[in-house]
Amino acid sequence: MKLGVLILAAGEGTRMRSRTPKVLHELAGRPLLSHVIETARDFSPDEITIVYGHGGERVRELLDAPDLDWCEQQQRLGTGHAVLQALPYLQRVEQVLILYGDVPLLQADSLRTLLAAMQADQGGSDLALLTVELDDPSGYGRILRNADGRVTAIVEQKDASEAQQRIREVNTGIMAVQRSRLEAWLGRIDNHNSQGEYYLTDIIALAVADGVEIACVHPHSEQEVLGVNDRRQLATLERYYQRRQAERLMLAGVTLADPGRIDIRGRLRAGRDVFIDANVLFEGEVELGDGVSIGPKVQIKDSRIQQDAQILANSVIEASEVGVGCVIGPFARLRPATRLAAGVKVGNFVEIKKSQVAEGSKINHLSYVGDSQIGSRVNIGAGTITCNYDGANKHRTVIGDDAFIGSDTQLVAPVTVGAGATIGAGSTITRDAPARQLTLSRPRQVSVEGWQRPQKPPRK
Ligand code: UD1
Ligand code: CA
Repeated sequence: MKLGVLILAAGEGTRMRSRTPKVLHELAGRPLLSHVIETARDFSPDEITIVYGHGGERVRELLDAPDLDWCEQQQRLGTGHAVLQALPYLQRVEQVLILYGDVPLLQADSLRTLLAAMQADQGGSDLALLTVELDDPSGYGRILRNADGRVTAIVEQKDASEAQQRIREVNTGIMAVQRSRLEAWLGRIDNHNSQGEYYLTDIIALAVADGVEIACVHPHSEQEVLGVNDRRQLATLERYYQRRQAERLMLAGVTLADPGRIDIRGRLRAGRDVFIDANVLFEGEVELGDGVSIGPKVQIKDSRIQQDAQILANSVIEASEVGVGCVIGPFARLRPATRLAAGVKVGNFVEIKKSQVAEGSKINHLSYVGDSQIGSRVNIGAGTITCNYDGANKHRTVIGDDAFIGSDTQLVAPVTVGAGATIGAGSTITRDAPARQLTLSRPRQVSVEGWQRPQKPPRK
């Protein structure tokens, strides 16, 4: 069966009180709509069509991809009207799955159950609805059933009688339907209702009149079908989403100090026996090897942290590689293109950018290392700075194995420090320092005998 997914995203989102279209507001660092698109792609459908509204060009520009078709609904005349607009894009498919662009937590599993209800061996309904029972059904369309329990229609809240308003089974809006029948039923709906809209939900009664038995399927959890209408709901859904990821991690063998205080905006892959303390933020693609430990308030983006490394509190790591058993932080910053080999130590208030550091080297306090290549077992003293920038160009610093850089050294790049070299503390190194020698550049210490410190005149 050829499947098309139709995503309705023409809503104005007035309750967001924002200049940004609702479906571009972010959940876990990505637009709401891209979560829905990702779910749609899970089915490798033959067609994905997105209905966007007037002024929604930004949505299209931001999220366009070769597998997506975009259909503008110029006037927002209702969900039935929105689907009708998109039908020309769905001519090639036999089944249509209708999703909402502002319902981002829906899981492919629940949708698979919905689609299965249309399969011949499952009774093969031409129309399957995703419904839920809610304690507070207000605002939703209600599912009407006859004495036999068969669905007869959906009535919108604003058109429902008092008795109907007491029904707790509601329409999530998500449905799967045979394309040819959808087309026929949509051709027959009107807008004679309290909102003057073309309701997609009116096709239910038409289908029943045609002898179709409506299949109803429930999502695995109620949270999946929650929509975003305002920023409070957005925040609530964000927490649900993060909780789900926290649970996935814990089941995979990660210990979380507090599953309520972790944020993953992207994809986190973690090995076994990883420990993550409170308030850690992961962004983009992050990989944590077995036994890695992440301290509190750490931020890691697009990086790989290898086995048994420890990232201590308040460190920030971006687009970097941290080798086996490294110890980073507290308060360290690894900027893009930093590559640390095994056993490297980077301490507090150290910034490293676009540099390679080989095995076992230590940069323990208050340093800036940029555009550098540092050998093995090097010790970089406190307050060392690679002066890599002359105002126009970036230059490289190369430090050989076993070198010892004294505290408060400035290495004015381009410069090379040979293997085993020692740099005296407080030096400004502007020329290459030879291997195994002591190089220092500071005036000799002198003492002035009988020198008097200036005195303040005595107060009267
Ligand atoms: C709709 C359903 C209701 C269901 C509820 C679930 C209808 C008539 N009612 O009501 O039964 O309980 O969703 O949330 O379908 N949209 C367009 N173009 C339009 C109108 C809407 O693209 O002209 C999109 C919106 O962007 C949104 C979705 O369709 O993603 C639902 O629209 P909304 O106005 O929120 O529908 P409800 O009145 O909440
Ligand atoms: Ca809604």
